[in-house]
Amino acid sequence: MAQPKILVTGAGGQLGSVLVPALQAKYGFNQVVASDIRDKIEINADYVQLDVLDKRQVIDIIHARGINQVYHLAAILSAKGEENVQFTWDINVGGLINLLEVARTARLEKVFVPSSIAVFGPLTQGEQTPQYPVLIPETIYGISKVTGEQWCNYYHKRFNLDVRSLRYPGLISYQSMPGGGTTDYAVDIFHKAVQDQHFQCFLSENTRLPMMYMPDAVRATLELMEAPREQISVRTSYNLAAMNFTPKEIYQEIQKHLPQFTISYQPDFRQEIADSWTQSINDENARMDWKWKEEYNLPKMVADMIHHLKIHYQEKNQDHV
Ligand code: SER
Repeated sequence: MAQPKILVTGAGGQLGSVLVPALQAKYGFNQVVASDIRDKIEINADYVQLDVLDKRQVIDIIHARGINQVYHLAAILSAKGEENVQFTWDINVGGLINLLEVARTARLEKVFVPSSIAVFGPLTQGEQTPQYPVLIPETIYGISKVTGEQWCNYYHKRFNLDVRSLRYPGLISYQSMPGGGTTDYAVDIFHKAVQDQHFQCFLSENTRLPMMYMPDAVRATLELMEAPREQISVRTSYNLAAMNFTPKEIYQEIQKHLPQFTISYQPDFRQEIADSWTQSINDENARMDWKWKEEYNLPKMVADMIHHLKIHYQEKNQDHV
C-alpha cells in the first residue's frame, strides 16, 4: 500500500484542529493537506482553501497533491443547521456526494466520513441504542447524516470504495471551540468554570447525552482507518461510545475542582434537539470488529480539561500584561 497522502476537509473545525496534528504526527507533516472554507486556520499545516461544493477544485487538489486518502470533516452541525436548512443539506449531502464521486473516479484508497448521534430520533431506542435502530431524525443535520451514511454504504457495496465512518457522540476538547452544535454546552461550561464565571446552560439539568473526550475520538478515528479492511463489517457508520452525562452531573464533577462554580438552566430551542437524541449507545460492533475501547470517563475527562484550560487562560492573561 502506498504511503498515505491525506486531504482533510473542514480542517479548521473542532475535530479537524486536533485530528490534523494527530495525522501529521502519525504519517509525517508533509503527508497531510489541510483544507477549509476559511482563508486560514489556527493550526500549523500545509493548507489550501477549499469549498467542498466546488467539485472541480476538489478534483484538482486531489490530483495536484497526489492525495490517496480523504478525511471529509466539512459539515454544518445540528443547531446551526436549523438556521439554514437548504444550505446545510447542500454542504452535508452535496459536499459528501462530490467527495465520494471524486474518490471513486480517482480510485482513492480510503475515505473517512463522520456521522453522529444526531442520526437518532424520538422513535429510536433511547437506552443502549443498538447499531441498527429506527433512524428517523428530526433535525436537518440528522437527516443529512442518515442520508450520508446510506451514500457511504452504497458506494462501498456498488463501487467497492473503502469508506469508513463513526457516529461520534458530543465531542469535548480544549484546543478549539465547537460551532453550532447542541452538545457544545459541555465545552462552554469549562471555559466559564476556569474563568470564574457563572454558566447559563441552554439544556435542562437532567438532559442525558452520549459524549466523548477528544483524545478518544481521535484515537477511534485512527484505529478505524488503520484496521484491516476485512474487519470492517459496518459500512453505514459505527456506533461509538465512551460516557454519558447530564448538565447537572458534569457541573457536579467540575465543582469538585472549582467549588465556587455556579450554574443555572435556561433551555432554548436546542432542548428539543437534545430530547430527540438518545441517552446511551451500544457500540459492541466497534468493540468487536476493531477492538474499540475508550480511555476517558467523566472524572478523568473533567480533570484533564480543567488542567489544560487553566494553562490556556494563564498564558492568555500573561500575553495581555
Ligand atoms: N455534536 C453534534 C451537535 O451537537 C452532534 O453530532 O450538533
